[in-house]
Amino acid sequence: MCALYTDPMSSSWNWRRCWPVALVLAMLAFGQPLLAQRPQDPLPRVHFVATGGTISNREGGRLSAEELVKSMPGVERFARLTHEQFANVASSELSLAQWLALSKRINELFATDQELAGIVVTSGTDTLEETSFFLHLTVRDPRPVVVVGSMRNPSTVGYEGAANLLQGVRVAADPLSRNKGTLVVLNDEINSARNVTKTDALRLQTFRSRELGMLGVVDRDRVVYFNQITQRTNERLEFDITKVTQLPRVDVIMVYQGAPADLIKAAVDNGARGIVIAVAGAGATSGDQSEGLTYAASKGVFIVTSTRSGSGRIAPPQQRPRDGGATDGGGGGFQLSPEQQRRRQFTIAGEDHTPIKARVLLMVALTKTTERAELQRIFSEY
Ligand code: DGL
Repeated sequence: MCALYTDPMSSSWNWRRCWPVALVLAMLAFGQPLLAQRPQDPLPRVHFVATGGTISNREGGRLSAEELVKSMPGVERFARLTHEQFANVASSELSLAQWLALSKRINELFATDQELAGIVVTSGTDTLEETSFFLHLTVRDPRPVVVVGSMRNPSTVGYEGAANLLQGVRVAADPLSRNKGTLVVLNDEINSARNVTKTDALRLQTFRSRELGMLGVVDRDRVVYFNQITQRTNERLEFDITKVTQLPRVDVIMVYQGAPADLIKAAVDNGARGIVIAVAGAGATSGDQSEGLTYAASKGVFIVTSTRSGSGRIAPPQQRPRDGGATDGGGGGFQLSPEQQRRRQFTIAGEDHTPIKARVLLMVALTKTTERAELQRIFSEY
């Protein structure tokens, strides 16, 4: 021990051996106050982009982005928040040109601000699942985009908008939220924009991923994730919309008993580059629709099959037994006519995307390729 040791050649203390002990004593005496005085790490910075919707739809005038920020007392405990007003309209009023502008703006914010932790976007809930999926496919950064809305407007008793927005900010500020694609936060739950659907016109618990399940929850103490998204997201995205000025027209046509071909033909004749056919079950069309789809293929229009059932997967043809009844008109080992062969060349299986999500994915995919095999690969990877 230093304090007990003296050099036999000298009467003084051996200070060379003593200095580590002296250092420890000095740290005990002075270190803690010094540590206590160290400035705390700054809170994560989150940017809020307001687009409107019920969350801001106050009677007598919509809430601005600034007023929405003020509706969240205590937000400063979780993040340093900046904000901007992108739009202030119902979600269904957002145009596809505004979708492109919103995605470009978010990509620009991330590219020019490396210290930004994440971005929160408010949206009306009616088409929130479409807007958020578009951002999910086109924002190429590991940091989170979190889309929030509310079911009750600010003039209603029980307005939940401020709580949803605060939770969205907490999710955007959390490093655990990186590389999960665009997230949708309402009612304490975090869902992937890929999987979430508005399942009820009025209830607060409307945003659900059905049997795929939510990704996580926002609890009083922390943000908790239970599941991970396995499809391509964030930096693994391949779509670059920076130079895209217009999204191609893609229409959704519902299958129902005795449905006519002329709606499909009208979509094609009015410039659709893709048709999503919301098939019954795993592939049935009805009425004259088969004729309409053959017409679409003859004009080089792509057809994506997606089930109207609400969930379930349409497998690509090569992975499906030749069981007949499919919208490509093939199967069952029958000889295909030239029209049926052409239709097959333009048909893509929508995998587990709902018709409305398949439409968004096809619009984005068509900005990159018009090869059927490539489109099918995209549907299988996203
Ligand atoms: N339900 C709202 C939406 O989806 C519409 C209400 C509004 O005008 O903001 O945007």
